[in-house]
Amino acid sequence: MTDMKTDGIAVAIDGPAAAGKSTIAKIVANELAYTYIDTGAMYRALTLKVLREKVDLEDNHAITELLAQTNMQLEQGENGQHVLMDGEDVTVAIRSERVTNHVSYVAKHPSVRKEMIQRQRELANKRSVVMDGRDIGTHVIPDAEVKIFLQASVEERAKRRYDENMQKGFTTDFEKLKEEIKQRDRIDSKREVAPLIKADDAVEVNTTNLTINQVAASVLDEARKVLESRRDG
Ligand code: DC
Repeated sequence: MTDMKTDGIAVAIDGPAAAGKSTIAKIVANELAYTYIDTGAMYRALTLKVLREKVDLEDNHAITELLAQTNMQLEQGENGQHVLMDGEDVTVAIRSERVTNHVSYVAKHPSVRKEMIQRQRELANKRSVVMDGRDIGTHVIPDAEVKIFLQASVEERAKRRYDENMQKGFTTDFEKLKEEIKQRDRIDSKREVAPLIKADDAVEVNTTNLTINQVAASVLDEARKVLESRRDG
């Protein structure tokens, strides 16, 4: 009988805001024909709902209740992943500046994290996944076969986000963008439960002076090493 867990592996990609995690995770998932799971999208979808329903960002109980009543699905469409919240396609709405600047406050509540981690573990259980976030290698899939921690200087991350925004057709204040990224990193790293931290056994890749293809190649190398050793063993 086939053990589903031995069919594929789990690749966990963590790192600070705008380090290129989703770009890399999508390429790696595509190359390995694995499912990409964007855990940040789940925190973003909940944040959108919190903001829409004007729930107090500090109200742990109300936010946890709201999450319990929220259905989230990550669907793989032809042109990328779609995020469905209670059946509504919120793929674009969860990328708004307002959601981006509030998500860390929602994500720091311990009971919210507990539920999200539970949901994400279920998604990763079948393996053949590339999952990105902040606590994937440390809490969501601590037994992931490949763990990557992407780093990049805050200057470089702000520059990438700035260029991305320009391409989308809107200008942002570079210094403000840098401050927002720093603030998000601060909250994500200092929270009590499952903070942003490199797992002891994660491979750290500093992407500051690397191209997207170089970073993707090094992550793929790590994954293939594991897959080959399994085949040989
Ligand atoms: O990766 P992202 O920018 O879409 O993530 C949005 C926010 O969600 C991020 O500021 C922190 C939070 N997050 C988290 O706490 N844990 C995760 N596994 C993923 C995201």
